Amino acid sequence: MDIAGKKALVFGGTSGIGLAAASQLVERGATVVAASRNPDRAGDPPPGVTFTSCDVRDEAAVAKLCAETAPYDILINAATGGDRAVGPFLEMDMAGYRGSFNKLWGYANAVRFGAEFLPPDGCIVLVSGAPARRKKPGQISLASVGGAVEAFVRGLAPEIAPRRINVVSPGFIDTPMFGPAGSERTAAVNERSAGHIIPRGGAPDEVAMAIIFLIENDFVTGTTVDVDGGWLLSG
Ligand SMILES: NC(=O)c1ccc[n+]([C@@H]2O[C@H](COP(=O)([O-])OP(=O)(O)OC[C@H]3O[C@@H](n4cnc5c(N)ncnc54)[C@H](OP(=O)(O)O)[C@@H]3O)[C@@H](O)[C@H]2O)c1
Repeated sequence: MDIAGKKALVFGGTSGIGLAAASQLVERGATVVAASRNPDRAGDPPPGVTFTSCDVRDEAAVAKLCAETAPYDILINAATGGDRAVGPFLEMDMAGYRGSFNKLWGYANAVRFGAEFLPPDGCIVLVSGAPARRKKPGQISLASVGGAVEAFVRGLAPEIAPRRINVVSPGFIDTPMFGPAGSERTAAVNERSAGHIIPRGGAPDEVAMAIIFLIENDFVTGTTVDVDGGWLLSG
């Protein structure tokens, strides 16, 4: 796909990985509508990006935004969905565990109500996470949800063809998910990544580059691209 002149709808596009993807799309000549629950807290959007409000957990709101934004060529969902439960499963609050799946329900809503507006050469990109295939202690909910996202995409790819759908799986990335920007946050993310083959946290732009690859390459569907500093191979 030649991104120049295309339009993209990016859920979770007001921060971190989603915002980096929105910015890289604009750099390549696309226009972008970026949605989240509280876009007013995100500051001014980059030129070429319009921020709007939408909670991905709200089916009706997602359907409305997709219909209002259509036609578009690219659909991305990088929204975390809300809080995630951490810790050992046998000590876990079950409401918290279930709540972690809001990310999956948000992704499902976006695809269910957004895919129909994509042209035959349109594409979707979602975001899982390295714990889907190699969890660290305390990450059972991330492992469960990430695995579900990747299985969802593999299962869906034949059904929505010729439109394409893929996933990017980040490792630890230095984003507002870990708090306000600054050296403390960067140091904390680097510390979590210390045992990885590339012993640092990633940048949102490094994940966005993989999102762009999945959009531009018309021969890729139903797969997951890891951008994790070697997390999956690290001790
Ligand atoms: N950063 C990492 O280390 C890492 C690692 C593995 C996977 N991931 C995944 O990468 C994706 C992006 O994460 P990030 O690090 O870029 O996080 P982030 O900087 O916190 O951005 C998350 C975005 O999602 C939006 N959002 C959250 N819940 C939403 C909801 N219910 N409805 C609509 N928008 C919602 C947020 O805006 P509002 O608050 O305004 O809604 C924000 O725009 C997520 O799926 C995350 O699980 C991240």
